[in-house]
Amino acid sequence: MIVKMEEAIKRFNSTLALDCMNLEVHKGEIIGLLGPNGAGKTTCIKAIIGLINIDEGTVTVFDLVQNGKERSIKQRIGYVTQEITVYEEMTAKENMMFFGSLYGLKKEQLLMKIKEVAHLLGLENRLNEKVKHYSGGMKRRLNIGCSILHDPEFLIMDEPTVGIDPQSRNFILEFVKSLATKNITILYTSHYIEEVEAIASRVYIMDQGHTIAHGTLAELIARIKGDSHILVDVRIANEEALNSLREIPDIENVVMKDNQYHIIFPGGVSLFDKIIPILAPLGIVNINSKQPNLEDVFLTLTGKQLRDEV
Ligand SMILES: Nc1ncnc2c1ncn2[C@@H]1O[C@H](COP(=O)(O)OP(=O)(O)O)[C@@H](O)[C@H]1O
Ligand SMILES: [Mg+2]
Repeated sequence: MIVKMEEAIKRFNSTLALDCMNLEVHKGEIIGLLGPNGAGKTTCIKAIIGLINIDEGTVTVFDLVQNGKERSIKQRIGYVTQEITVYEEMTAKENMMFFGSLYGLKKEQLLMKIKEVAHLLGLENRLNEKVKHYSGGMKRRLNIGCSILHDPEFLIMDEPTVGIDPQSRNFILEFVKSLATKNITILYTSHYIEEVEAIASRVYIMDQGHTIAHGTLAELIARIKGDSHILVDVRIANEEALNSLREIPDIENVVMKDNQYHIIFPGGVSLFDKIIPILAPLGIVNINSKQPNLEDVFLTLTGKQLRDEV
C-alpha cells in the first residue's frame, strides 16, 4: 500500500476542503483523481505529502502515519505542483541543479541524472537556455523533470497539463505511461476526463471534498450502463424547460449546455411522450442518444458537468 487516506477532514475557516475523503493507492497503479475545480484535489495531495495536517481522519503513506514530520516519506515522493514552480531567470539546468540538491543529490550524480531526465522529457537541447524563453509546454516538462531527479517511487502530479498545447499534453501523458512501466506509482489529478481515461488504471471521482465513486474505468461505466442518455438540441434553450424536465418523475438528471439538453433516465423507460411536449415549443433541431462515458458517470452522480466548472 502506498497511500491510505481514511475519513480525512480538512477545514479552511468555514470551507470544508476535505469532507470525509477516502483514497487508496496501491503499488504500481496510475490513479486518476478526477474532480472539478474546488473539489479538494490539491488539498488531498498536500495532506498526503504532509504539507498540511488534516483536522480529523488518518493518512498513511508507505505504511507510515503522515504527520508532516517524516522526512523519509518526502524523499520517496516526487511532487509536480499545480502551479509551475521553476525559476524563469535561471536556465533549465540550473533549475534542475537547484531542485535536485534539495533532495541531497551530489553534484556528479545530479549531472548524470539531469542528462537522463532531460532526454526523457525532450529538453536535452535546450538545457542551457533561460526558462523565460521556454514555451508553456516546455516549462511544464521542466517542472516534471525537477520532481523526478531523486528517483521517487511515487509520483504525484497535480493537473500537470493545464494551459499547454495538445502536443505537449500528449507528450506528458505518454511520459506518465512510460513511468508506470518502470513500476513507479502515480497519482494524477485532472479535471480533463479524456486524460484520466487515457492513462489511469483506476479512477477516483471527487466532488465537494470526498470520493463519490472509484474503480476501474470499466467498473465506473458499468455502474451507469443501464441508463439512457439522450441529447436534444433546440433552437434556444431556457431554464424554464430545464426545470420542467427535472420535474418529470423517472428522470435522473438533466443538464443544459448551450442549446442542448442532456437527459438521463433509466434504461427501458420511455419518456419521449413527456419530454417532447416540453421541448417542442423551443424548436427541436436534433435528438441523439449516446453511449455513456466517464463524463456521464460524473454527471449522473453529481448532476453537474465537469467541464463547465473549468
Ligand atoms: N489555503 C487555503 N485557504 C482557504 N481555502 C482554501 C485553501 N486551500 C484550498 N481552499 C479551498 O478548499 C477547497 C478545495 O480546494 P482545492 O483543494 O484547491 O481544490 P482543487 O484542487 O480540486 O481545485 C476550495 O473551496 C478552496 O477554495
Ligand atoms: Mg487543485
